[in-house]
Amino acid sequence: MNFIITGGAGFIGSHLAEYLVSKKHHVTVIDNFHVGRHDNLINIKNDIEIIKLDILNYEKLKKVVTNTDGIFHHAALTSVQDSLIQKDEYYKVNVMGTENILKLASQFGFKVIFASTASVYGNPKKIPIMENVTKKPLNPYGATKLRGEKLSIKYAKKGVSVIALRYFNVYGLRQNRNYAGVITKFLDKIKDKKPPIIFGDGYQIRDFVYVGDIVRANLSAMTSNLKTGFINIGSGKPTSVSNLAILMINLSGYEMNPVYRKSRSGEINESLADISLASKLLDWKPKTHLKNWLKKIMI
Ligand SMILES: NC(=O)c1ccc[n+]([C@@H]2O[C@H](COP(=O)([O-])OP(=O)(O)OC[C@H]3O[C@@H](n4cnc5c(N)ncnc54)[C@H](O)[C@@H]3O)[C@@H](O)[C@H]2O)c1
Repeated sequence: MNFIITGGAGFIGSHLAEYLVSKKHHVTVIDNFHVGRHDNLINIKNDIEIIKLDILNYEKLKKVVTNTDGIFHHAALTSVQDSLIQKDEYYKVNVMGTENILKLASQFGFKVIFASTASVYGNPKKIPIMENVTKKPLNPYGATKLRGEKLSIKYAKKGVSVIALRYFNVYGLRQNRNYAGVITKFLDKIKDKKPPIIFGDGYQIRDFVYVGDIVRANLSAMTSNLKTGFINIGSGKPTSVSNLAILMINLSGYEMNPVYRKSRSGEINESLADISLASKLLDWKPKTHLKNWLKKIMI
């Protein structure tokens, strides 16, 4: 099939592009290369089309999407911390950019998989989090993604097939260094023989899900008969940030202890996915265990 990945030169988008190529699909990547990199696509550069394009440029997008069977919409500004200061920019790209994709989907009839986030939940009353709980994002990044979800509902009512996948903390190789998640940050520190830095007391719970599992969920959602929905994609396994740091230090074999700093605003205390809906609707389950992956790359 013919698929487009917006944000396809970024971390998750580039893994998705590799996966779709391995499944013999034709892939077009749309990215403005704000943080995306050609290097991320080096293994498949001869098998895909790459178009440098901003998702805010509606007229140009329109020319590119005419023959697509579906768009995996991953282009976004993705830093929680930056979103606290660049609110307008985040709104433009994450809300207006998403509306452009949905508008085109209603015009041309293709399906959209929207990369949403567990940040839409804010601090949940209880974990694991089910999809239907109240959503109260703690930061502008989460708020823009929630707006994107609301737009999905609006366009679904007009007949657009759109599924929002709410990713929890995604890890894997090729994460952008500036916006990377905690695993990449700890890996970088430990590699330099420096102790990982923990913001807060380290008891905060995270749900770390491997990027290879994320890309499988995307293709399942795209090819399923399901037309709309909001679905958690996580590991379903809780890990505290302190335990993560200690595990990584132990695997490295270095003698060190994590360093603790004041917690940062806009961050969530506890995040853990209930993944039963993904299993039921997408026949999807995570396959990669965090400890096994860390062992593979650290030892
Ligand atoms: N990484 C995670 O843990 C995580 C968790 C939840 C949700 N998500 C969502 O998944 C998607 C991909 O995340 P990622 O971690 O790969 O981030 P990323 O920053 O590596 O990728 C985003 C890509 O979008 C591109 N982009 C940004 N603005 C654009 C614009 N205006 N036009 C075209 N392209 C633009 C960037 O250049 C980049 O290549 C995002 O929508 C993000 O919100 C990621």
